[in-house]
Amino acid sequence: MIGSSLLALAAAISSASAAAVGASKVEERAITPLACLFFGDVVSPWWLNKCAPHLDLVVIDLRSAEEYAASHIPGSISAPFDPISAWSQMGPGDLLLELPEYDTLASFLGSIGVGNTAKVQTKIVLVNGVAVPAFPQAASPRVATTLKFAGLSEGRVAILDGGFPTWEAESLPVTTVVPTPSPKTFTSAPDRSFLVDIEYVKSKINKRNQGIFLIDGRDQAVYNGSAMEDWALKPGHIPSALNLPAQKIWNSDGSFKSTFELLALVRQTIGYSASRSYGEIIVYCGVGGYASSWYFVFTRILGFGNNVKFFDGSAQQWSQFYDMEL
Ligand SMILES: *[C@@H]1O[C@H](CO)[C@@H](O)[C@H](O)[C@H]1NC(C)=O
Repeated sequence: MIGSSLLALAAAISSASAAAVGASKVEERAITPLACLFFGDVVSPWWLNKCAPHLDLVVIDLRSAEEYAASHIPGSISAPFDPISAWSQMGPGDLLLELPEYDTLASFLGSIGVGNTAKVQTKIVLVNGVAVPAFPQAASPRVATTLKFAGLSEGRVAILDGGFPTWEAESLPVTTVVPTPSPKTFTSAPDRSFLVDIEYVKSKINKRNQGIFLIDGRDQAVYNGSAMEDWALKPGHIPSALNLPAQKIWNSDGSFKSTFELLALVRQTIGYSASRSYGEIIVYCGVGGYASSWYFVFTRILGFGNNVKFFDGSAQQWSQFYDMEL
């Protein structure tokens, strides 16, 4: 629901100006509505429905192939999020959900119509399903992390707020027609600036008094060791990590909580000794899905900068080499 008042304002201005011009329906469509110039990090179904025809935009549906076949947003491309898919691969030591090879990813993006050259800069909107636990919701931020690695970030990649269920609930058009993408050229360099490895994380534990925070995005019971996930070898969390369960990021309909609510969650946990420009925050979880969700919230919704880092190896890798804390 972020920026909805801004979008409503923009919509009011844009429809008022169309009325003032008294333009015919055809002429009106030739003009990009003012609201479509605001490409937020989280976009509403209303915005996507109105603006997709006016922009160089690829809508990517991350739900399963079966869900996509049953019903999807017109023009959207199916690219299901799976542990081994276009979006992630198996890493060394069987690490799950590691980033894919850059060249494979770049050619995949080009093949589905995402252009990335000096002149063509296609935008992407990601569409997820909604469930409890929030794994489907986490798919979009996880793919946004993969796309940041591919060089696409702010201003290029957004998440549809509330995913496909909210689009459907708002009675917007759906289809079973599968579009044929027009391939485009995708060139960039991989961005590894936000990724940290296990030795880097080890050098940052027990430094909260210096404003350096490890954030564990898993559920409280997993964090405190009373429950275990399949992929961690030991119960508990990385020493000195604080717990911010990623499930708290979303409302029950799968939309993002408000910026104020998200900031309050963050402040309740880390206080004020890390901020947009000082201190450091390293996010991790079990294998990287919930960590991506916090990475997206910190950097895209709350405006934190490159002092937020992402530990893709997460608890799975840490527990193979070092002790956990309870
Ligand atoms: C661990 O988390 C679970 C689930 O929230 C909770 O019921 C339990 O009391 C916690 N245990 C400790 C020792 O904090």
